[in-house]
Amino acid sequence: MILVTGGAGFIGANFVLDWVTHSREALINLDILSYAGNLESLAPLGENEQHIFVRGDIGDLALVSELLQRYQPRAIINFAAESHVDRSIHAPEAFIQTNIVGAFRLLEAARSYWHSLDSHGKRGFRFLHISTDEVYGSLLKGDPPFTETHRYQPSSPYSASKASSDHLVRAYHHTFGLPVLTTNCSNNYGPYQFPEKLIPLIIVNALAGKPLPVYGDGQQIRDWLYVGDHCSAITRALEAGRPGETYNIGGWNEKPNIDIVYSVCDLLDKLRPLPGGSSYRSLITFVTDRPGHDRRYAMDASKIERELGWRPAETFETGICKTVQWYLDNSDWVGNVQSGAYLTWLEKNYQGRA
Ligand code: NAD
Ligand code: TYD
Repeated sequence: MILVTGGAGFIGANFVLDWVTHSREALINLDILSYAGNLESLAPLGENEQHIFVRGDIGDLALVSELLQRYQPRAIINFAAESHVDRSIHAPEAFIQTNIVGAFRLLEAARSYWHSLDSHGKRGFRFLHISTDEVYGSLLKGDPPFTETHRYQPSSPYSASKASSDHLVRAYHHTFGLPVLTTNCSNNYGPYQFPEKLIPLIIVNALAGKPLPVYGDGQQIRDWLYVGDHCSAITRALEAGRPGETYNIGGWNEKPNIDIVYSVCDLLDKLRPLPGGSSYRSLITFVTDRPGHDRRYAMDASKIERELGWRPAETFETGICKTVQWYLDNSDWVGNVQSGAYLTWLEKNYQGRA
């Protein structure tokens, strides 16, 4: 059994769905169901007994300790976080609470559980922390991509809080010997992403005929990876990663934001043409830039390729096509997010069950 945190969020839900398809091992999913947690994303699981959902906070030491003692997982994968940079600018407090204090308490619970294991259990246990390329700060045009030894220089409250948790995770290895792994990944896109992030926001706004907001000059560069490829990298790191190590994960796919927006518009022009033959590109609106906006991220993923044999299966072209098609096919999921109906899914789905 493994314990996954934040498994009702975008990447966590994709991971859980992927896990039950490829493994027979059970999984406990601990998620507080913040605005970003959506159990409808896990609806394809149906009554699958491999998945045990627990609503709770990674910062609740008593709850996490009790879950660890009861289920005796061989690994913890920590996806749970506040994850949206813009929200961290408007209201940073929650980022400090979950990404730093919550991660610290999760580590504390993991440490005392790990101490209680016999030597075989101790050797096999892993604490895998999911992090981001944003901890490394911003690159200039022409700089080489981030390697695992690039210095930490986070610039938003989000990236600073993630950097802090990365340091804590490593300290628990160095000081206490906890067998930790850290993966730092570039920007993900794919099914079940909350439409506050660039790609789903552009898709849902375009379909609603709303403006497509591009921050600043739209020339900021991100390195985009299809979420399924991130999940396969995490599975591989869990299987074969060396305790104490960090692995950068990326798609070797740097693109300026404006090109991403063009790609989405052009796909929608083909798949859902506007009446009168105009292009969705006509909805693009340049808006005031995000404060402190990092100019460029790029990941050097050669360590995980070389040491663990992982490579992305999707190109940007195949991944973005699947993604746009998914949002077209899943208008109910989008509609329930927009109306807020997804927040009541828990009551709807679980009322009356023993
Ligand atoms: P998300 O915001 O979609 O989901 C986060 C999930 O964590 C939600 O289900 C939420 O309810 C849950 N959560 C929040 N606070 C919690 C708490 N205190 N206790 C328990 N659960 C809590 O985020 P995401 O995009 O799926 O990102 C998952 C992880 O991957 C994060 O750690 C993020 O920093 C990292 N990451 C994301 C990206 C990306 O492009 N989205 C890229 C690299 C790394
Ligand atoms: P986002 O999806 O928020 O991810 P991150 O900030 O973690 O990289 O944003 C991706 C890029 O798109 C980032 O450079 C900000 C930009 N962006 C826009 O131009 N317009 C938008 O409406 C949003 C949400 C993001």
